[in-house]
Amino acid sequence: MDSDGLLTVRDGHLCFDGVDLAAAAGRLETPFYVYSERRLRANAAALLDGFGARHPATEIFFASKACSNLWFLHVVRDAGLSVEVNSGGELAKALRVGFAPRQIVFNGVAKTEVEIAAAVDAGVRAILADSLFELERVALVAARLEKAAAVAPRVDVHVPTLTHPGLETAHGGKAGIDRDDAVTAFRRAADDPWLVPVGLHLHVGSQITSVEPYRQAVETALDIVDEVERVPGVRLEFLDAGGGFAVPYREPLAAGVAGAAGPEGARPDYFSSALAVDDYAAAICGVLVSRRPDLTLFLEPGRSLATTCGVLVTRVENAKTKKRRGAGGEVTGAEDWLTIDAGFNTLLEHTNYAWYFRTLVAGRAGEPADRPFRLAGPLCDGGDVFAGDGDTPYRRFPAGTGVGDIVVFLEAGGYTLEMMNQYNARPRAAAYAATRDGGLAQIRRRESDADLAAFDLTPGFGV
Ligand code: LLP
Repeated sequence: MDSDGLLTVRDGHLCFDGVDLAAAAGRLETPFYVYSERRLRANAAALLDGFGARHPATEIFFASKACSNLWFLHVVRDAGLSVEVNSGGELAKALRVGFAPRQIVFNGVAKTEVEIAAAVDAGVRAILADSLFELERVALVAARLEKAAAVAPRVDVHVPTLTHPGLETAHGGKAGIDRDDAVTAFRRAADDPWLVPVGLHLHVGSQITSVEPYRQAVETALDIVDEVERVPGVRLEFLDAGGGFAVPYREPLAAGVAGAAGPEGARPDYFSSALAVDDYAAAICGVLVSRRPDLTLFLEPGRSLATTCGVLVTRVENAKTKKRRGAGGEVTGAEDWLTIDAGFNTLLEHTNYAWYFRTLVAGRAGEPADRPFRLAGPLCDGGDVFAGDGDTPYRRFPAGTGVGDIVVFLEAGGYTLEMMNQYNARPRAAAYAATRDGGLAQIRRRESDADLAAFDLTPGFGV
């Protein structure tokens, strides 16, 4: 059913990396995530090989915000990748998993002194400085610790991307230093005894379905590198081109059906993408190798490593048919509703960014999916309704789908575990990894009622 045979059908049941998901849901409390180590290793190898073939001096730093689960990070490390962290918490997790400080870059748009001190003290490969102010802050902390800090200013290269507006990050948004201030930033770093300017960082955004922004961004970044290297004492080691490689969440929509509207109007359908690793590698390395083959290329992919490694397994808990009515209450039709046990508490992006995740009914994999259903989550929130297929509000499932059926969300391994919450006092879900023999190993525990109360304090009411 997919390119590397991870999704298969056995006796009408959907299997993910050999795990019969309907059978697993018969034994385990839903909802839960299932991860595939095989897929993660394949994704890592595709990136290492794809970029390595075009520019051997490439280092890949997994953006751990996409999945900082400790098991997942262990596999990432074992697969030969380094790691990008975005907070003191992610730094602590990376160190705990055993990444060497040289394998860690530290990003963020509001780093605290405490976080910077932890990064300087650990001796990370580079602190990716978000502002002129932050450079001063890093210098102050480094001086206090009497330990030099390697820095790579993050520059806003001002490239439009047409992804979801919330994911566009190098187009005048909150991140990075204005490109006109880039030279000043490098000069400050070069002049400070405790700072070592080692590279330039950029990140154009996430789920980028065209290579053009990368080409433009690298061209602009290298123009800036030319300028900053005229500053005495500045000779850069690397260009960090960020992450953003897209995942195909669905087939392309029919021509003329646009994606969500952004600030500048309708955007293309950014949930579908036909790009392969080599397309990104050709665009980025094409520019870099022709202009500055001496620079090491750093990359920070998150989504493209994690997303296809995970699925979310949920159960239908309620079903009903409701009339559809017009403005005056007149009946215009009817629709079937299915309510499952996971909503934006378990899959935040479905409402946060109106994200589309494909679904299949695990126990009915052989049946034609031809009946339209509205699909909703369990939360006490009218917005907790999943986007439909194509440009409709409906998901197409086999006709008999109803209470007890197992609905599986595909491409759900990135930015999902990380973003779960306890709304409606629902426990955050468990996660499992598929084992080689078709079994499951638990990699995250499901929260209990005790966990739900564990952080609340009751002063005045006794303990
Ligand atoms: N580097 C930087 C500086 C970033 O800000 C990000 C993502 C990445 C790397 C990784 O980008 P990726 O390869 O994953 O596209 N919560 C959102 C995603 C936010 C992405 C933020 N930055 C979501 O669920 O879609």
